[in-house]
Amino acid sequence: MCGIVGYVGTRGSVEVLLGGLKRLEYRGYDSAGVAVIDDAGHLDTRKHAGKLGILSADLDASPLTDGQTGIGHTRWATHGGPTDENAHPHLGDGGKLALIHNGIIENFSELKTELLASGHEFSSETDSEVAALLVGDAFRETGDLTTAMLQVVNRLEGAFTLLAVHADQPHVVVGARRNSPLVIGLGEGENFLGSDVAAFVEYTHRAMEIGQDQLVTIRPDSVDVVDFAGQPVTPSTFEVNWDASAAEKGGWSSFMAKEISEEPEAVAKTILGRVHDGLVDLPEVVALGEGALASIDRVVIIACGTAAYAGMVGKYAIEKWARVPVDVELAHEFRYREPVLSPNTLVVSISQSGETMDTLMAVKYAKEQGARTLSICNTQGATIPRESDAVVYTHAGPEVAVASTKAFVAQITAIYLLGLQLGQVRGTLSPEQARELVVELQAVPEKLASVLATGERIAELAHWMADTRSVLFLGRHVGYPVALEGALKLKELAYIHAEGFAAGELKHGPIALIEPGQVVFVIVPSPRDPSSLHAKVVSNIQEIRARGARVIAIAEEGDVAVLPHADEVIRIPLASPFFEPLLAVVPLHIFGMELAAAKGLDVDQPRNLAKSVTVE
Ligand code: G6P
Repeated sequence: MCGIVGYVGTRGSVEVLLGGLKRLEYRGYDSAGVAVIDDAGHLDTRKHAGKLGILSADLDASPLTDGQTGIGHTRWATHGGPTDENAHPHLGDGGKLALIHNGIIENFSELKTELLASGHEFSSETDSEVAALLVGDAFRETGDLTTAMLQVVNRLEGAFTLLAVHADQPHVVVGARRNSPLVIGLGEGENFLGSDVAAFVEYTHRAMEIGQDQLVTIRPDSVDVVDFAGQPVTPSTFEVNWDASAAEKGGWSSFMAKEISEEPEAVAKTILGRVHDGLVDLPEVVALGEGALASIDRVVIIACGTAAYAGMVGKYAIEKWARVPVDVELAHEFRYREPVLSPNTLVVSISQSGETMDTLMAVKYAKEQGARTLSICNTQGATIPRESDAVVYTHAGPEVAVASTKAFVAQITAIYLLGLQLGQVRGTLSPEQARELVVELQAVPEKLASVLATGERIAELAHWMADTRSVLFLGRHVGYPVALEGALKLKELAYIHAEGFAAGELKHGPIALIEPGQVVFVIVPSPRDPSSLHAKVVSNIQEIRARGARVIAIAEEGDVAVLPHADEVIRIPLASPFFEPLLAVVPLHIFGMELAAAKGLDVDQPRNLAKSVTVE
């Protein structure tokens, strides 16, 4: 939520800032702005409501006097609507200081009252301007941006990443963070700050983590980190393992189209190097402590949005393979209801960005309660893995489209690896059983590639249905979270009413929604499955069909029993029940994207959303 970039070095900073903001725009796109200190030591800013393109076009038409120090921001509005005035940067010290902010300053109204009483005027409705004025005042007293920022951060409550520049100290950018993301990019004679590494990956792959309640001062040749008490800190560095090209569209019509096409690779890369001698070997879990996996008696999975649905799929698998009870909870609900946890509870957080504030707060709470915490995350250097005892990274590569797709299949893959390892360690899976399941998992990428080939037919269906006002999704067992994910994609992308239901629940209420013409997607379990779920779902199809529903079934190849009952059948390759969700979700991802495209909507940046929700 809000993208932040800072630069100091030898290049023209406007280009660096705009390039970084472009790659961070998924974090928010209500407004954008930059502040630059030119060679003569003047600070200039430009900011506009609307997407980054509006700011870029304005800067093209009437350029700023460029310099080698600057900060840039792309906003997702919290306090104050998306207007030019509320766009960042905000100014302090009579216009000599510029500041950008991501997060929420919870005590802003007290501070604002104090600033108004001392004669300050506000030009925006944001909480962020309070910080700009305070840091400006502190600079006036101390003459040093680092000292000024240190004074102010200790007065702020809430979550924030702040970056500031001051005209009297060119070649310096100061950043501070509490519970909001910030990483440092290390260059030669230049340094960068960003909400995530995408901000600077075009220029450097060397990055440095900055912890909670820490403050960083970058100059062209130095990076200094201190804690909020002013004590020096030695942060750890890491190499970014993907190229800027991975975060480019690369000829695709949208980032989402590209990312859906990368679903096979996301699964393959997440498995890579984690299977030895046919069995799962996740060295990352060692960080949970000696014998931890054998001693846990409960797993709690916490996540939000799509990641929570991946967690629901994981619940079915872990309980089956490792015979440990698993609860799945939305992180924000978990955090504030005083859940019962013990040192033998393993709390698994799932987050693509690793920055979702609700999930982060839940992880912190779980740690405080003494539970062991493991994070499944797609973003190196992010906050949630840093705050967790252990991390299993998904290797889906950067996901730019706001609605998550390839991260979902990578998250299921990672949680399956964890479930298999748990089953192996606890002896609930024999080596033969574990090996068989590993072989199935390794076969998923190839099968996914064949599901992608159904894309054209799904696109046709979506385009016919461009006027559809409501779509329902039904699934059972691991197909149920897939139904929820299909519905979420349609809400997020195409802004139409969509609901996912457990097929067994149909008769307990949702069937009342069925009227002639209602489109219902049904995820059909394999007829080869020894449980009788296939027959039950086919009966459900008949029930809704009898009431006029138009049924689109997602069923495995060779399932002829479903044919007479469905208006349309989308085929997926044969797979045992636990591997079906990985395949069945792809047509639903494509459908959501294509329906949004048919309605002429922006599939990468849907209205009102942000990819990384860094406020509670
Ligand atoms: C936002 C995004 C969703 C995503 C959710 C969780 O709401 O729009 O696509 O599933 O956040 O994000 P995370 O980064 O924690 O997986």
